[in-house]
Amino acid sequence: MPVKVVIGAQWGDEGKGKVTDKLAETADYVVRYSGGNNAGHTVIVGDEKYELHLIPSGVLYPDKVSIIGNGVVIDPIALITEIEGLKKRGLSFDKFYISNQAHLVMPYHKTFDNLEEKRKGSNKIGTTKKGIGPAYTDKVARRGIRVGDLLYQDVFEKKLKEVLDFKNLILKKVYEVKELSYKIILKEYLETVKLLKPYIADTSEILERAYKDNKNIFFEGAQGTLLDVDYGTYPYVTSSNPSSGGVCTGAGFGPTKIDDIIGVAKAYLTRVGEGPFPTELFNDMGNYLLEKGHEYGVTTGRPRRCGWLDLTLLKYAARINGMTELVLTKLDILSGLKEIKVCTKYKDKNKDDSFKTTSLNGKEIPIYESLPGWEMDITGLNDFNHLPKNACNFVKKIEDYIKIPITVIGTGPKREDAIIRK
Ligand code: GDP
Ligand code: IMO
Ligand code: MG
Repeated sequence: MPVKVVIGAQWGDEGKGKVTDKLAETADYVVRYSGGNNAGHTVIVGDEKYELHLIPSGVLYPDKVSIIGNGVVIDPIALITEIEGLKKRGLSFDKFYISNQAHLVMPYHKTFDNLEEKRKGSNKIGTTKKGIGPAYTDKVARRGIRVGDLLYQDVFEKKLKEVLDFKNLILKKVYEVKELSYKIILKEYLETVKLLKPYIADTSEILERAYKDNKNIFFEGAQGTLLDVDYGTYPYVTSSNPSSGGVCTGAGFGPTKIDDIIGVAKAYLTRVGEGPFPTELFNDMGNYLLEKGHEYGVTTGRPRRCGWLDLTLLKYAARINGMTELVLTKLDILSGLKEIKVCTKYKDKNKDDSFKTTSLNGKEIPIYESLPGWEMDITGLNDFNHLPKNACNFVKKIEDYIKIPITVIGTGPKREDAIIRK
């Protein structure tokens, strides 16, 4: 049975939630492997709109198993709030598991995220301020506290005491702000145990059993390749590996078992937060994409920076992920434009194909190819043969450039608004 990975091929918000949900019709397991509640995945089912942050999209189907793998950092209070909100809307958590090895986002992580962004001033990253970077920092520094530690009060108390003493020292001596209370954090976090205990499991083992039983397993990426801590536009990135390699370490699942790497990209490009964005539009066209595409962050509400599709970056994402197919979302947003541009290279660069995001410095001048647009509103269209000729040509242009087939095309925000080509 196929094992598929859905990854963001841009700077996040490509529509991964909708794509995972759509493709999850055939899945048995839907698994998150990286990131935390910095993610915001929108899925629209009928008249219901769901904005998921930590919970995998599989939870929207009662028969799917949903898993949060060890590579995710979990704010337990945010998780409980999300679970309770979704339960109130009638969703079931009977088949939901979280890894005992996932690291916890602690209150001091959020404090440090805020303090660091403030300290950096105009050099800030533009984080979601959910404590994600500091939580991954502690994981790597070997002073993180894991979900499984919550199950043993004495272990949790000891670890919290040790780490908090260290954090409070920095808060007091370096940032000169108020220390955090051990008692309050301990009480708050121990209260979450009662609610989370039924879900805590060795999720890598669950996945191994599922694989042996020939189940369909879907890994749902968060963020996007260009935000990858290794392969993104460093340092303007998140602190995890959202690209396909992250699946193996973030879920305890071997690479030889993966069959399909599905990249998701918008028909244009957006970014939230700071960092280089060569095709960013600062004119009416940028505003048009912002408003027509409703490009406002799900997690922070910030307006997303908008620009034309950058094929050099997309091809790079295809390479880094070993992408086997691409889902192109939001093609409907481009309907009605006379002209659509795609960036095929940067001035004085790209003499060969060995493009690197780390070399982006914000000074690139994009060279565009201009394609004729189409008048017809394609919202909700399901048949490729019914697409206007110029829309088909736009799709083919992308395929020709990145040498990866586009197998699904998004034609609207709803579950059913898609053209499936295979
Ligand atoms: P994610 O973080 O990758 O899951 O994406 P977000 O949910 O943050 O942002 C994608 C937005 O685009 C959401 O509002 C989706 O409802 C919407 N969306 C996804 N696919 C399509 C599409 O094909 N057409 C339109 N119009 N909207 C889409
Ligand atoms: P989904 O899963 C878009 C961005 C932030 C910031 C940078 C670092 O919805 O696609 P962080 O809080 O992670 O330390 O912020 O990463 N960012 C996202 N941008 N979509 C996301 O998730 C993002 N998650 C983080 O805006 O620029
Ligand atoms: Mg999002």
